[in-house]
Order: sequence, then C-alpha cells, then structure tokens
Amino acid sequence: MRTQTFQYCLTGDSRTIDIFGEIEKRNIAFFELAQKQKIKGIFSSPPYVGLIDYHEQHAYAYDLYGFQRKDELEIGPLYKGQGREAKESYIQGISEVLNNCKKYLVDDYEIFLVANDKYNMYPLIAENAGMKIVNQFKRPVLNRTEKDKGAYSETIFHLKARL
Ligand SMILES: C[S@@+](CC[C@H](N)C(=O)[O-])C[C@H]1O[C@@H](n2cnc3c(N)ncnc32)[C@H](O)[C@@H]1O
Repeated sequence: MRTQTFQYCLTGDSRTIDIFGEIEKRNIAFFELAQKQKIKGIFSSPPYVGLIDYHEQHAYAYDLYGFQRKDELEIGPLYKGQGREAKESYIQGISEVLNNCKKYLVDDYEIFLVANDKYNMYPLIAENAGMKIVNQFKRPVLNRTEKDKGAYSETIFHLKARL
C-alpha cells in the first residue's frame, strides 16, 4: 500500500555503494536530510548461498529495460554451489554489505534480514559486522516461486550493534 513517504531506489553493489554520495548526485535536499538524520535501519531479503541465479531469474527484465548485467557481483549465486569456498565467500560478502551499510546508519540501528540459514552462517556474519542477533522470528513460506514446492520456513534475524 502506498504511503505519503518519500522513497528513493538506488541500485548498485551493496558491499561498496556510497549511499549518501549517490543520493547527493540526485537530490540535494534529501541528501542533506539523510546525512543529518542518518538511516534508522534495514529490512532486507538478501540472497542465500547457492540457491538462485538472480540474473537468470530476472533475465527478461535486463532485456526489456536494457539494464547492464553484473552477474559477477552477485553474492552466493547458484552456479557457485554450496561448498566450503562458496560459503566462505558468502559470509565475507554479506559481512561486507553490513559493514558498508553501517557507515550510513544511526548508532542504535535496527536490521531485519530474512534468511533460511541452514548452514548457520549468520552468527559469524553478525560477529564480522560488529553486530549481535537479538531475536529470530520464524516465518512459514507458503507460496514459493522456486520449482520445489516443499514446506519451508525461514527466519527473520533482528540484528543490533554490539556495544
Ligand atoms: C532474495 S532476493 C530479494 C529481492 C528483493 N528484496 C525482492 O523481494 O524482490 C536477493 C537479491 O539480492 C540481489 N543481490 C545479490 N548480490 C548483490 C549485491 N552484491 N548487491 C546488491 N544486491 C545483490 C540479487 O540480485 C537479488 O535480487
């Protein structure tokens, strides 16, 4: 449902994107407000290790809109599998995302991340990012887009700064 809020969509590699710098290029008033107030939190559904090739899943969109493909920047793509190397690179990737985002967040930020963490990687990711998992909510997933329609539930991790 649309609300009376101002919203902006930035695209980029979340490990390195300069959020305030990108806003400054587009909207000075919003940039000044964002820089002064900083960002209160994140709600995200990150990719999971070796599950989906998102560039392939959304290939039609790249084609229709003429977006430039950046397959090599995908964190945890299916084609890299779920082996040890893939998991280590996934942990490093998501840790880098959180460390990058922290620069733009208030000190008492709230982060909610949706994941089906079957390899129990999020405790280490939180540690790498100087964060702690303060709560885990379970959410059953009833309508899946993947071919496998088996019963499935995922966790929403609530993270905060480790002080
Ligand atoms: C589980 S999906 C969630 C997508 C979106 N939140 C939604 O509900 O449609 C994960 C998304 O993360 C994107 N992604 C993977 N690596 C990324 C990166 N390095 N920077 C930004 N996004 C990335 C994938 O392309 C995919 O679109």
